[in-house]
Amino acid sequence: MINTACTSSDDHDDDRSDNDFCPARDDIPDESKDALVASVRKTLIKHPAFMSGTAAIRLCHRTGRFGLEEPGCLLIIGVSGSGKSTLRKEYAKHYPPRDTDEGTEIRVLHLELPAQPTIKNVAERILLEMGDPLFARGSAETMTARIVTLFKNCGVQLMILDEFQHFIDHSSEKIETKVADWLKHLINETKVPFVLMGLRRCARILQSNEQLRRRFSRQISLEPFSVSNKPARRIFNGLILSFWKELPVPPSDELARDARMIEAIHFATFGLMGYVMMLMSVAVQIALEEERTEFDHGVLGRAFVEGIWPDAKESHNPFDHRFVNRPLTMQGEPFFGY
Ligand SMILES: Nc1ncnc2c1ncn2[C@@H]1O[C@H](COP(=O)(O)OP(=O)(O)OP(=O)(O)O)[C@@H](O)[C@H]1O
Ligand SMILES: [Mg+2]
Repeated sequence: MINTACTSSDDHDDDRSDNDFCPARDDIPDESKDALVASVRKTLIKHPAFMSGTAAIRLCHRTGRFGLEEPGCLLIIGVSGSGKSTLRKEYAKHYPPRDTDEGTEIRVLHLELPAQPTIKNVAERILLEMGDPLFARGSAETMTARIVTLFKNCGVQLMILDEFQHFIDHSSEKIETKVADWLKHLINETKVPFVLMGLRRCARILQSNEQLRRRFSRQISLEPFSVSNKPARRIFNGLILSFWKELPVPPSDELARDARMIEAIHFATFGLMGYVMMLMSVAVQIALEEERTEFDHGVLGRAFVEGIWPDAKESHNPFDHRFVNRPLTMQGEPFFGY
């Protein structure tokens, strides 16, 4: 685990963040190389936005323990790859289901909404997640009643629903108003705070539904990292440097000293965690495969092509000297539409 926010770590064991990397050597067997690359991919980076997202969820969770008539809910939006699902899964890991004398306790219930949500398929998904063996049985009404009872019996304190943008049909832009109304009803009946997560367009669902909007007055956005001003640049730079320290293959001195490197990485990843992890893990993979003791500009350039943009010409590769500094957001480029 990497803590770029310089806060204390309260994590428990999980399958991420082992950090038991060893130095690159030319006699590493292939399986160990694969394991090293996988451990790079699994490293959890506790960057400031991750920490404030966790704090916002925790606050929501705390208020849920009091069974308030109107629990305070939270909406978390962010572009693809900004780390929403990672935040959800990491938070939930702290509250795994546990068996008690009265049955299974599920303090934090979390799931992804189906691609074309209807009341029935969302209810089904929730029941399935709660271990109801008859999850697909009954009408929408009876399923809803079962959810309310199960929430109570299982001691659910917080519900996190990911992929909330599925409530807007992508092609027709039609909002699933019936499902949105049902969701409001479910919040009222269970009195459990809900955290909804999704792409930016899901904020429109709340704009069109004033009752839901009032319940989700707290909203946060997981923004990509920026390098446009000094403090933001310092954060992104700190993140990359602490990540590099943990890699099984270190950067070359020339790379580590290159003041323009942070911009190049930002152009290559758009400041999104998903692409940062991809770029670095592919760079490590290339270095290990070629039995290098360090990775340099050339390796990063190839990692960009292999992991992020296979069609990139040299002049469009941020690690090539021919690259003209500009975000890769034009049609056909990796960050178009971001
Ligand atoms: N804090 C983090 N530390 C390490 N890796 C991260 C972090 N946040 C995200 N990632 C990595 O970035 C990738 C994308 O993250 P994630 O799936 O959470 O994004 P998302 O916002 O849910 O995207 P989408 O909207 O497409 O579902 C994942 O491979 C994940 O492991
Ligand atoms: Mg996601």
